[in-house]
Amino acid sequence: MQAPFVVDPYPSLARLRENGPVSIIHGEGGLAMYVLARYDDVRAALADPRFGQDARRAQELASRRVEGVTLGGDMIHMLNSDPPDHTRFRRLITGVFTARRVAAMRPMVSRITGELLDALDGRDKADLVADFAFPLPMYVICELLGFPPEDRFAYRSWSTAVLTHDPDPEVYARALDEMAAYIAGMLRTRRDSPRDDILTVLVRARDDGTLTEPEIIGMVFLLLIGGHETTVNLLGTACLALLHHPDQHARLLEHPDLMPAAIDEFLRFESPVSMATLRFTREPVDVGGVLIPAGELVLLSLGGANRDPRRFTDPDRLILDRGDPGHLAFGHGLHRCLGSLLGKMEGEVALTALLARHPRFTLAVDEASLPWRNTIMLRGLESLPVVLHG
Ligand code: HEM
Repeated sequence: MQAPFVVDPYPSLARLRENGPVSIIHGEGGLAMYVLARYDDVRAALADPRFGQDARRAQELASRRVEGVTLGGDMIHMLNSDPPDHTRFRRLITGVFTARRVAAMRPMVSRITGELLDALDGRDKADLVADFAFPLPMYVICELLGFPPEDRFAYRSWSTAVLTHDPDPEVYARALDEMAAYIAGMLRTRRDSPRDDILTVLVRARDDGTLTEPEIIGMVFLLLIGGHETTVNLLGTACLALLHHPDQHARLLEHPDLMPAAIDEFLRFESPVSMATLRFTREPVDVGGVLIPAGELVLLSLGGANRDPRRFTDPDRLILDRGDPGHLAFGHGLHRCLGSLLGKMEGEVALTALLARHPRFTLAVDEASLPWRNTIMLRGLESLPVVLHG
């Protein structure tokens, strides 16, 4: 049985918003965390330097309160670092994700999409997550990193164990070790045969002393996660949202040029990263008249902010031509998603091609049996079995 919050988090998020600007929830071992879920507050906090993100500092604060608690920030990367480390990490690979570079990747994304759809030819049923939404971004990030896509299931199992901080310490430790050993091996190979990929950039950065080996491992881990744990959720939940909104589905089939705006609305409606990564207050911060003391852990609900009726009219309805890209699905401020253009482009190419080939698909199972990712941090389907109607 899945927890009701995992299946449908929105009633609870609405209660959090109505409860006041700030609520407190309790995590592992009763660890107290402040939660913000109103759009204006979440947006302001995302860009406020009084909120820190350094994983080591957050761990120290948590350990002081609950002995033995682990937040899982063992790997250091840009998303759990503050400047100047954050700046050093981000600067190194920003160039890979510019609008020009992303536009140049479009044919590659179209080719991979076409191959995945070809593989469905002649089948009347498919799992749109396993057969389509998962492999596409995984192939793309492997191509960018310079990793063999054949190993994708290993990447997936490591990132799941690390992201959900597997409760079995052995599973968790094994995932970390295996991933570190694998990445170290890839770095050795690439040192001998450089290519036009991120791995080669990282090998050079290690050799000229810009990054340490653990920092490289953290960077690869973050890109693997950023590259596939998010876009897969976007594609899966977008397909389900179309099934739930036949009028919007029909409108998109009639007007395929709506797709870029539709992607923003899918991102708002079901934000793939439901909760931003953990922050802490460096000094007391007043949020809507409530004072959060210094040294407190803080969660920012992107999913809650993106359904806030104070910001979006009729927020629980999918309106593909809403024409409002002001959602926070990619975060905001210093840590705003580096891969946002790539994620949106992948979404556009993939959904356009899917709807061109299979304009009408229907659920192949009872809706209640659809499995959701079992974490409050991400919002996505584990699988989406459908009947394809040609
Ligand atoms: C639909 C797809 C995506 C969504 C919804 C998404 C969402 C996000 C969010 C919300 C953050 C900020 C989290 C925070 O502030 O705590 C973030 C950061 C990041 N994302 Fe994405 N992402 C997506 C795709 C990608 C892709 C394709 C890549 C790269 C291949 C990527 C790489 C990153 C990186 C490196 C960061 C860290 C930026 C920093 O700390 O400065 N993302 N993403």
